[in-house]
Amino acid sequence: MTDKKAYLKVDGLEETFELPVLHGTEGPDVVDVRALTSKGLFTYDPGFVSTAACDSGITFIDGGKGILLHGGYPIEQLAEKSDYMEVCYLLLNGELPNAEQKAKFVSTIKNHTMVHEQLSHFFNGFRRDGHPMAIMCGVVGALSAFYHDSLDINDAHHREVCAFRLIAKIPTIAAMCYKYSIGMPFMYPRNDLNYAENFLYMMFGNPCEEYVPNPVLAKAMDKIFILHADHEQNASTSTVRLAGSSGANPFACIASGIAALWGPAHGGANEAVLTMLEEIGDAENIPEFIAKAKDPNDPFRLMGFGHRVYRNFDPRAKVMKVSCDEVLKELGLENDPLLKIAKELERIALEDEYFVERKLYPNVDFYSGIILKAIGIPTNMFTVIFALSRTIGWISHWNEFHSSPNRIGRPRQLYTGPAKRDYPG
Ligand code: SDX
Repeated sequence: MTDKKAYLKVDGLEETFELPVLHGTEGPDVVDVRALTSKGLFTYDPGFVSTAACDSGITFIDGGKGILLHGGYPIEQLAEKSDYMEVCYLLLNGELPNAEQKAKFVSTIKNHTMVHEQLSHFFNGFRRDGHPMAIMCGVVGALSAFYHDSLDINDAHHREVCAFRLIAKIPTIAAMCYKYSIGMPFMYPRNDLNYAENFLYMMFGNPCEEYVPNPVLAKAMDKIFILHADHEQNASTSTVRLAGSSGANPFACIASGIAALWGPAHGGANEAVLTMLEEIGDAENIPEFIAKAKDPNDPFRLMGFGHRVYRNFDPRAKVMKVSCDEVLKELGLENDPLLKIAKELERIALEDEYFVERKLYPNVDFYSGIILKAIGIPTNMFTVIFALSRTIGWISHWNEFHSSPNRIGRPRQLYTGPAKRDYPG
């Protein structure tokens, strides 16, 4: 923290307000405006463009430079050298595990991947053609009915057990959402497979034949999990923190994060990118869609492009693009028409003044869908995969929130409704 000050002079008010300026490890300084309420003033920031809602030591983003750090480690290095289990440990604990810590963590997760047998009955209430995100949201929220009384959120050990349960069970539930939607039997997790292999097994295995996960696809899946694991105070993580601030059950908080992620402006964009590329259909139609995206009167936006924070390439998109080429080459799909359209769309957009001027670059969702489709995952499961990956980020932020003294989140407003008036008659 620093002893820097900010000074605020408001017309019509005698006093010039002196506000503390706080400085973190990296990134912009923040002006501590908490004292303004007692002066009869609020700050105004719809969409939280310039608001630091908390302090956090988990993830740092420099949007101007396209930098993403987890526990100080660049996402590019983690994607290349680490694996999802290790990144989960890092996000939860703030340090990379040593060999012994990693082995213990992986073993703990592996031994919690099964869900209560009763949980499978929740699925029967859904139509088979229900969107898997709706099912995921409902079933994860229902976990709070299973663990409600065994959880003291003020007990660090209870919070850790809750994190282990969620990290372990979320792939099982995600795969169950898929199996349910296609009328296939649920597959029980296997302890002889790693996290990504096990997920692919539960997704594509069936009781009638042996299923051996393709190691290249499992590695790509693990990389996708890493690239989606956490991303600072994004909409869904902020939702989880706000829900958590009321002391709500963590499973219910994660369900609120799933709900917030579902929107096409957020995690739902990966599904929307595939729909958009299929709608474009052929590279010759790209100019028509670019024109729609630029038309202020057309609500259409180029899905997978733009970001509230990145005013440069999303570093995850760069890694995803390389992984996309690798996976499609491995599968002999390097001439995939959707990939060709995506690359041409990116090329044209990055040369177009509208996108250049607004610093709109491909984000994490632009290429992920093409890889997921190549792996065999249906489009309506893309955001479920994002939610699976992001659960570690959500629960790490939830845990961080409860690890120090905290207050319920309660934003205020600029009231624009009718002034006080009496009831007629
Ligand atoms: C994720 O926050 C996170 O960290 C999220 C995420 C994570 O890991 O948690 O990174 C994951 O959600 C990635 C974003 C996925 N969403 C999409 O790809 C949907 C398409 N993108 C946009 O809807 C938009 O870019 C947002 C929602 C991502 C960001 O919206 P902002 O910050 O509110 O930007 P804006 O709407 O103020 O746009 C600024 C300008 C506007 O034009 P003008 O009013 O200046 O004329 O840029 C234009 C917008 O119209 N614009 C786009 C555009 N994105 C912004 N125009 C066309 N196509 C786009 N994709």
